[in-house]
Amino acid sequence: MRIAVIGLGKLGSPLAAVLASAGHTVVGVDRNADTVRLLSAGAAPVQEPGLQHLLHASGGQWKLTATTNCADAVRSSDITLVCVPTPSGQDGLFTHDLLLQAVREVGDALRGASSYHVLGVVSTVLPGTTAGSLKSALEDSSQRQAGDDLGLCYTPAFVALGSVVHDLQNPDFILIGEASQDARAGDILDHVYRSLCANRPPVRRMAAVNAEITKLSINTYVTTRISYANMLADLCERLPGADVDVVTEAIGLDARIGAGYLKAAVGYGGPCFPRDNLALSALAHSLGARADIADATDRVNRYQLDRVLARVREHAAPGATVGILGLTYKPDTPVVDDSFGIALAQRLAACGYRLLVSDPLGLEAAAAVLGSQAQPVSLASCAAAADVLVIATPWAEYARLHHDLLRRSGRRCVVLDCWRVLPRQSLCEVADVVYLGLGASAQGVGGVGSF
Ligand SMILES: NC(=O)c1ccc[n+]([C@@H]2O[C@H](COP(=O)([O-])OP(=O)(O)OC[C@H]3O[C@@H](n4cnc5c(N)ncnc54)[C@H](O)[C@@H]3O)[C@@H](O)[C@H]2O)c1
Repeated sequence: MRIAVIGLGKLGSPLAAVLASAGHTVVGVDRNADTVRLLSAGAAPVQEPGLQHLLHASGGQWKLTATTNCADAVRSSDITLVCVPTPSGQDGLFTHDLLLQAVREVGDALRGASSYHVLGVVSTVLPGTTAGSLKSALEDSSQRQAGDDLGLCYTPAFVALGSVVHDLQNPDFILIGEASQDARAGDILDHVYRSLCANRPPVRRMAAVNAEITKLSINTYVTTRISYANMLADLCERLPGADVDVVTEAIGLDARIGAGYLKAAVGYGGPCFPRDNLALSALAHSLGARADIADATDRVNRYQLDRVLARVREHAAPGATVGILGLTYKPDTPVVDDSFGIALAQRLAACGYRLLVSDPLGLEAAAAVLGSQAQPVSLASCAAAADVLVIATPWAEYARLHHDLLRRSGRRCVVLDCWRVLPRQSLCEVADVVYLGLGASAQGVGGVGSF
């Protein structure tokens, strides 16, 4: 198929590359000329594992081009997929202005054309948007009726940054929400999405509003599981001998529950989870429905900052040097949006601690957010100079932290291991390691107890 992908960011760039690798003729569109230049030259515009490799592997053989000219791209394609941002407003609801603008550009380009065209909305939207304001914008601008010669669907992607390429090629399922009440658009997108898959996922086709609710519900449910695990960790810490990982591993064996996203550690962050949870809650409240579970999930998530702050305070007073290892919201991405490490650094700096921060990929982005509140340093400098060292993101290299970096001639360093990545005994000779989520006597030899 000939496919235009509008918005070549963290989702759109990998999507364009994966579509091209499956044999489609793809033209990427972005208003940012640098992004277009990079992709046109075969370079990944975003840092995402596997993307550069995929672009190199093409050897220039695929049909993947990029342009800032939306109209030309749309007119030369059969399908347009839109992946532009839908930022959250003050009230927690998503704003659709950028998306509406992109949809109108697509409609303008299709005005007067006679061939069938499918518009797939990949951006995350509030339920009711695709068949509501987006359909109206598309019909007004194109002067065509959705349904007859114009297809409109909501087709979200279920991907995590750090594994977007893999997730696009191996989805758990494909979700297509049809807004134009014709099966033709759904059939076409069904065919396209299946063509990307290395696996054989089930496909669910439904009315657009149901697909929109499904997308938002999945992220909200996952955040609830994370908060649930964190609630258990808080409990385990106060019970001698308790170990949250032992508990959550066993809970996950229950077929009614399953193992995924039950890892207790710090609060969830990133560009999707916190805002999707808030949006579901805000939407429910705006409709007069209750969203107690989403609200509690968010409350538990915010509490994680107080919980870790209290543990730091147990071991060091304001004025002491705290090192934070990990500023991205998860490993294998440079993205620091709404990350726990950044929020912790800001809170500690406000309390009067001296902050050293380190991260393998996110240091530049973090430094831009933190400014003078924290000093960006290497892993070695962070570990060597901190009175309290907090592991806030489970980057693989932190599990291999070397003794010598923690050895002090004076007072021992305290390491607050929020993810329990450090080996239980080997560092205890040189430092006091506190594992979040473990009760006092489960901390290991030399580890310091909790409450
Ligand atoms: N990043 C993810 O993992 C992920 C996962 C699922 C859903 N989403 C959703 O996908 C959407 C996009 O997210 P993202 O993370 O890729 O955003 P992003 O900010 O990384 O990228 C968006 C891109 O769109 C471009 N853009 C904006 N308006 C444009 C226009 N009118 N025409 C052309 N280009 C335009 C920007 O220049 C930018 O390059 C959001 O709704 C997000 O919630 C993202």
